[in-house]
Amino acid sequence: MNHQTRVYESVFEMLPTEENPSPIVRINRLNPEPDFRMYAKLEWQNPFGSVKDRAAWSLLSDLEARGELSAERGIVEPTSGNTGISLAGMASARGYKTRTIVPNKVPMEKKVMLKMAGADLDVVTDDLCPSPGMGDGSINLAKTYAKSQKSRYVMPNQYENEHNVNAHIRTTGPEIRRQTEGKITHLFTSLGTCGTVTGCATYLKEQNPDIKVYAVQPSEGHDVPGLRNVSQLDVSKLFNPDLIDEILEIDFELAYTRALELCQNEGLFAGPSSGLIFEGACQIASRDKNGFGVMIFCDSIFKYVSNMVKHIPELSEGTTPPNAK
Ligand SMILES: Cc1ncc(COP(=O)(O)O)c(C=O)c1O
Repeated sequence: MNHQTRVYESVFEMLPTEENPSPIVRINRLNPEPDFRMYAKLEWQNPFGSVKDRAAWSLLSDLEARGELSAERGIVEPTSGNTGISLAGMASARGYKTRTIVPNKVPMEKKVMLKMAGADLDVVTDDLCPSPGMGDGSINLAKTYAKSQKSRYVMPNQYENEHNVNAHIRTTGPEIRRQTEGKITHLFTSLGTCGTVTGCATYLKEQNPDIKVYAVQPSEGHDVPGLRNVSQLDVSKLFNPDLIDEILEIDFELAYTRALELCQNEGLFAGPSSGLIFEGACQIASRDKNGFGVMIFCDSIFKYVSNMVKHIPELSEGTTPPNAK
């Protein structure tokens, strides 16, 4: 494998590592504070399109190493979309089946992507972020499959599996340190399973305890796929508040407006969770004035076109001929 020429023998060789990092790109026109350098880590450049390639590969390769997968026995997993898309793409390329359970609020684009990646799909009337005690929520339904059909399914469970965190200790953290030559002072992430924040914070604070870690949470009642408000976090066994210096609550509508601004001013086609992280980073940059910030931009906007139109209806204006019914 040669990361210079980018000639690969399989899609798996493209997965991010310290030698083949996802890019970091500086924010220019939208940076509120010239002495605070802001870089976005573009996770949509990963081969299956999001930060979840890292966790999915870690989960899948662990199951493979333990002999849990075969042509007859595949993966079942609850997902807000991205983990499922990464897992299904990888499993299909390896010859395994996948069943994904998604909350209904997940955008249509992601549901269709899951099917195109080869997953069987169950859609449940769950919260956007599955929570316990909700009857057969997406997590519980996945557990039911894994328990009642042991010969057909194994459930990695991204909300509890340490391999999710380890993926970021092994790859994202070292990539960021190398790309910033150790100069990073602020890390900005979101909270979903919390694999990203816990893994990156563990590695980076070990290297330099002065690095500050900020996590954003959308305001309650939100509609930002992949993210959780802290009130929804009891489902994640990977959340470690000791590693987070501050959690910023941000009006969830800003996820959409900030994502659009990034598209229209920076050429960065960032999705809504990146929009929310960007708003948090701007608030801290304006407060701290000086620093070297890295934001994890988890995925791109393409899977959220229907959500963008829902939140910013003007976007659909002029998209049909004037005399169309
Ligand atoms: C778009 C998006 N942003 C952020 C996250 C949060 O990442 P993590 O689960 O590592 O906390 C996810 C997780 O699924 C996601 O899909």
